[in-house]
Amino acid sequence: MAKNVTVRTLAKMKQAGEKIAMMTAYDYPTARLLSEAGVHILLIGDSLGMVVQGQSTTVPVTLDQMIYHASMVSRGATNGAMVVADLPFLTYQVTPEEAMRSAARIMQEGGVHGLKLEGGRELAPTITRLVQAGVPVMGHIGLTPQSVHAFGGFAVQGKTADAAMQMIEDAKALEEAGAFAIVLEAVPAEVAAAVTERLAIPTIGIGAGALCDGQVLVFHDFIGYTSGYIPKHNKRYAAIADTIVTAAQQYVDEVQTGTFPGEEQTVHLQRNEHEAFLEMLQRKDENLD
Ligand code: KIV
Repeated sequence: MAKNVTVRTLAKMKQAGEKIAMMTAYDYPTARLLSEAGVHILLIGDSLGMVVQGQSTTVPVTLDQMIYHASMVSRGATNGAMVVADLPFLTYQVTPEEAMRSAARIMQEGGVHGLKLEGGRELAPTITRLVQAGVPVMGHIGLTPQSVHAFGGFAVQGKTADAAMQMIEDAKALEEAGAFAIVLEAVPAEVAAAVTERLAIPTIGIGAGALCDGQVLVFHDFIGYTSGYIPKHNKRYAAIADTIVTAAQQYVDEVQTGTFPGEEQTVHLQRNEHEAFLEMLQRKDENLD
């Protein structure tokens, strides 16, 4: 990926029918590797609360934690990837002013290029204010995990015709407010396709079928690093957990059997220094006796 990915690149990709690949990243080495691999957008998702911190939802994640991770990812995005961060739970819903202050902190301290906000048409005034202030905003509708307690679980959204129509209205309101893209999470494929067709801005799906303009996966799910519940929409491209466990078992074994560290990992004194050292030790030990 030679050039920097910007909001204009993404708009052109939609027009050209070129799919967008987005992936979450939470630290420097992952950001560096994903951006080298050509991932267009790196998302510092508040999913880090679940896959990195071990929380059961994204609700406990704070703005300071997001800024900490965002700054690492921004330093690692060395190959032109656009870096977008989630604003966490209740750092943007209370008032547009508070959203502006949260946005200022994460953009200035975290070095990101854009922000993602969860919610529908009720967020339109906030998005307009942010966009007018120069903040690129990505929307996020369907299953919005920060509302997990209101939904009563991580369930697919937009499953009735009425709910699907509401989703189209939400998507349009976000586009009109100035969002540059919209994540559609856990939405039936037919609904995601209808939203995608009706928007000029790209849709990025996760559990939303193949007809979105792009896809996003959670990094830890994608490399098989997550334990416990794995969402149906995930595809594992690697089995890194197995690799880590096998390597760690070998390490424990080698430490216990004395095969690690071996000669390759060991530094020795030069022969003359070693002899002098042994003599000094002997003299010291004799004096102490
Ligand atoms: O927090 C996150 O990682 C997300 C993606 C699943 C879109 O919002």
